[in-house]
Amino acid sequence: MPDLISYAQAGEQEFLRQIFVRDQMAEWSKDPLIMARADGVRYWDIHGREYLDALSGIYVVSVGHNNPRVIDAIRRQLESLHFSPPMHGTNPVAIQLANLLAELAPGDLSTVKFQCGGGEVIEGAIKLARQYHRLTGSPGKYKIISRYQSWHGSTLGALAASGLKSRKTVNEPLGPGFIHVFPPTCYRCPFDKRYPDCGITCAKLIGDTIEMEDPATVSAVLVEPIGHTGGIIDPPDEYLPMLREICDQHNVLLVFDEVITGVGRTGQLFAADTFGVLPDVLCTGKGLSGGYVPLSAMLVRRPIADAFWGPISENPGYVEGHTFEGNPISCATGIAVLREILERDLLANARALGERLRAGFADIARRHGCIGDIRGRGLLQGVEWVRDPATKQAFAAELNFGVRVGRRALKHGLLCRFDPNWLAFGPALTTTADELDQMLAILDRSVGEVLGELGDQR
Ligand SMILES: Cc1ncc(COP(=O)(O)O)c(C=O)c1O
Repeated sequence: MPDLISYAQAGEQEFLRQIFVRDQMAEWSKDPLIMARADGVRYWDIHGREYLDALSGIYVVSVGHNNPRVIDAIRRQLESLHFSPPMHGTNPVAIQLANLLAELAPGDLSTVKFQCGGGEVIEGAIKLARQYHRLTGSPGKYKIISRYQSWHGSTLGALAASGLKSRKTVNEPLGPGFIHVFPPTCYRCPFDKRYPDCGITCAKLIGDTIEMEDPATVSAVLVEPIGHTGGIIDPPDEYLPMLREICDQHNVLLVFDEVITGVGRTGQLFAADTFGVLPDVLCTGKGLSGGYVPLSAMLVRRPIADAFWGPISENPGYVEGHTFEGNPISCATGIAVLREILERDLLANARALGERLRAGFADIARRHGCIGDIRGRGLLQGVEWVRDPATKQAFAAELNFGVRVGRRALKHGLLCRFDPNWLAFGPALTTTADELDQMLAILDRSVGEVLGELGDQR
């Protein structure tokens, strides 16, 4: 068997054809990033280059790389039970994690279904919403309303709910019954209005869409409390409470995709707490296992879950199952991650560092004059790049400004999320103030260098 790493170290691109990594494989293989090890908030690639991880991998490594408590929990679980038969029952750690989540989650989000990833948990929520309405006498309610620019996962149902044309069109036509609406992008309002005089048109239109589609056909509204793709779309305060009201009015389930925002990222355990809005279904993943093993979870409000409880003659229960759901290693990991967050009060750290991050972005905005908006909460924050903050004029598309900054930052050893028009940080909840300052310093330097290179072209 060829040693892929040594070929990659030697710059042999041909051997990278043995693995699908990114959308743009041919481009990626010219300068492939292959991580070899990690510790705390740092990665080292196969050439020994060090990177500060301002992205927790991809909003996953919530309690840092090489976390001793989590590693110890996994080791201990491996020695007692690594798999239990999912068709016949469950295992003690799955029950413990379900109980812990039910205790920590807001309101009566107290029935938990475990899955392995974000796409899977979103699929589960779509199916749960449809089956719930079927069980409660509204079998015609099947449509899902979600938002343009959203990302809910690569599996076909989650992809159909997603609103990113760049990732969807290659697989179209996708399943029917997925309706998209505009997200609350206040900085560039799709309706050319201004907050607060806008009356939160983006939320009202979700109610109108339900009416126009016929409420008897709509099962759920699915949103990320803070949209990620599209550039950290932080809704105005009224938006999520309005969605709650609209959903209640039409007997439509409100589903929060907290795959990114969950497990402490916004400074509370869930964004539902941060915004004070209780969804009917809350989907979380990524940071729940800290990235040590695959794990996601769907939390369902008790009155909704009750519909799935009944004699087999009348009620099939929730028809959804995966071989690796509730895996003991995954659940032991989830418990260790949650304990780490609670016992070290990492939520307080996320809030304090969130303020420091905002101040750091504001400082970069002042120094370089190329940031139009700073958005997000806690340790999920981003900036929108603009040529001129006074007019909100964007950089010319051909300059690819945000990608240049992101690539330059990577070259200087900083991993963050970048796009042509925006950039985001989502470091581990364990990050220290000093580490965050180092991340911001690399970003500041990268922005300065790219602007310097552009000169008058800007
Ligand atoms: C908000 C959101 N939901 C769902 C997903 C899908 O998660 P996964 O990649 O684990 O399937 C992602 C992935 O990035 C996401 O950002």
